Amino acid sequence: MSTNPNAQLHEQLDSAAASRTAGQQPTWPDPQALRAAVAELAAYPPLVFAGECDVMRERMAAAARGEAFVLMGGDCAETFAGATANNIRDRIKTVLQMAAVLTYGASVPVVKVGRMAGQYAKPRSADTETRSGQTLPAYRGDMVNDFAFEPSARVPDPQRLVTAYHRASATLNLVRAFTTGGFADLRHVHDWNKGFVESAANSRYERLAHDIGKAMKFMAACGADFEAMRTTEFFAAHEALLLDYEHPLTRIDSRTGLAYDTSAHFIWLGERTRELDGAHVDFLARVRNPIGVKLSAKADPDDVLRLIERLDPDREPGRLTLITRMGAGRVSDALPGLIERVRDAGATVTWICDPMHGNTFESTGGYKTRNFDDIVEEVRGFFQVHRDLGTVPGGLHVELTGNDVTECIGGSTKILDADLEKRYETVCDPRLNHRQSLELAFLVAEMLSGDVPA
Ligand code: PEP
Ligand code: CO
Repeated sequence: MSTNPNAQLHEQLDSAAASRTAGQQPTWPDPQALRAAVAELAAYPPLVFAGECDVMRERMAAAARGEAFVLMGGDCAETFAGATANNIRDRIKTVLQMAAVLTYGASVPVVKVGRMAGQYAKPRSADTETRSGQTLPAYRGDMVNDFAFEPSARVPDPQRLVTAYHRASATLNLVRAFTTGGFADLRHVHDWNKGFVESAANSRYERLAHDIGKAMKFMAACGADFEAMRTTEFFAAHEALLLDYEHPLTRIDSRTGLAYDTSAHFIWLGERTRELDGAHVDFLARVRNPIGVKLSAKADPDDVLRLIERLDPDREPGRLTLITRMGAGRVSDALPGLIERVRDAGATVTWICDPMHGNTFESTGGYKTRNFDDIVEEVRGFFQVHRDLGTVPGGLHVELTGNDVTECIGGSTKILDADLEKRYETVCDPRLNHRQSLELAFLVAEMLSGDVPA
């Protein structure tokens, strides 16, 4: 055993994982290259600071009580090539614009979280992919291999773990610059939203934007400190999928002696890696970050209670977020029973709606897509269930981009099946484009404010 506390921690994490099943891990062909990459990561500085994770946990606790609302958004799979200044800026801009509208609708602070700066690994339903008779390893995210359908591109390369760290670091640096350097100024954000509303020609959105403008004028007249609104808190989150990336970035916080995964403020487990005895759940139980677990309509309430016992034994508000992704057609029947059981077990979890992953289908042209109306419908169902039970809908988790892509059907620009091929750029799931994201925010703001019955 090493005497370095982080080295000891990494040994403990690795040996705990070795005695459990870790789903969805790549088969790295060269163990020595893997060891070198992991050692390199272990020597790098943390990407986030433990104190920031603690702040975020408090924010998530406020959301669980209904005193804040969470907005998580970003790509399904970030790519290395996509980590450009313009892409990052436009994604941040989209999230900030949505957050401004949601803040007004919810009348509480919005906790802004990017599915960013680490969302480079994907769970896959099959280990291989076959095209025109050729079978290659599946694409598992830029952290593992390349999207190009060529034999050499699909070989898992552990140096990609290191590249992921550097891309995450550059992304996070720009996110911090944008959100603290004046770009996030609420007055700019409102101007951007006015621009959107003018072009959308939708009287409901116009009224809401007008009301926000009036509220801002009122605040200014009252002497509100707009200088303080030039900056905003912004957190980074991703699915903690690849243990070879998450373990070496987990560090002991010198203030508290506790372990934090410093690859992001918030990490979550997907629907496919949340098995109770698996290595992923064990890993999350060992870190102090605020954490999340995705739950489909198939989630067994008994399993969910066991997960709570394992991941949030102290029933600490803000520690555990349950992200439900049940599908527009299932949310009303599958969600209530789950919420009741969790509530009756005395857990104060933060409930977040992911209206994307239960609504995916294949278009007639063969594209993986989602219908904007289904997405809105699932959010509406989520709010309705919480309203009926008197529980708190804590936030929204969406796959989005700031770009003008054509990946999801519908929205006011009426993207049709036949339009998907025009700008279908995702390497994994279909994302809402900039306008669809803003429309969703306006519709959810109406639901939150009670202006339009949900
Ligand atoms: C995702 O968030 O991209 C994802 C794979 O989700 P889930 O685990 O809910 O299927
Ligand atoms: Co996805």
